[in-house]
Amino acid sequence: MDLKSLIRDIPDFPKPGILFRDITTLLRDADGLRYTVDSLTEKFIAAGLKADYVVGMESRGFIIGAPLAYKLGAGFIPVRKPGKLPSSVHAVEYQLEYGMDRLEVHQDALQPGSPVLIVDDLLATGGTASATAKLVQQIGCQLVGFGFIIELRDLQGRKQLPDSVPVISLVEY
Ligand code: PRP
Ligand code: ADE
Repeated sequence: MDLKSLIRDIPDFPKPGILFRDITTLLRDADGLRYTVDSLTEKFIAAGLKADYVVGMESRGFIIGAPLAYKLGAGFIPVRKPGKLPSSVHAVEYQLEYGMDRLEVHQDALQPGSPVLIVDDLLATGGTASATAKLVQQIGCQLVGFGFIIELRDLQGRKQLPDSVPVISLVEY
């Protein structure tokens, strides 16, 4: 299936000069949604990547991470922006283009040694995914892989991710 034909390009969103890759048009297409979830699942299985948990980042990572966890027979763990999770959290701060941001996960969501996959809709600079990797590795989890629908190759996000961990993406720009 030609996933690119279902992804909409919006110039100058959210800022001038950014070409936004909009997945809402892919998500609303029943065949496209099924193909996306099934393809990521098959690629993880073909690569021998097994995990007890899929970790997804707010908010678009939730949309793809939860059905993927269901298909893989894993649990889903949300990584959220600050102040959203109700119980005690582990946090990681990371650099944005301007200033810092912070991601949080419940302290009791993950245990040391648990095999974990990190899943998001899109890999751009890699800041979000590498911060999430630090968070799960600080807890002592075994990071077995990353999965994305879209990878923006020019931004070289893969270089920010740990060398030894496989990265799977379905569509590259
Ligand atoms: C987008 C996207 C990734 C991140 C990728 O999320 O869903 O999480 O940016 O960019 P990076 O590789 O440069 O870190 P965004 O922060 O726009 O939040 P949203 O999912 O809530 O829209
Ligand atoms: N997140 C970071 N860069 C993005 C882009 N170009 N399109 C959609 N989401 C993004």
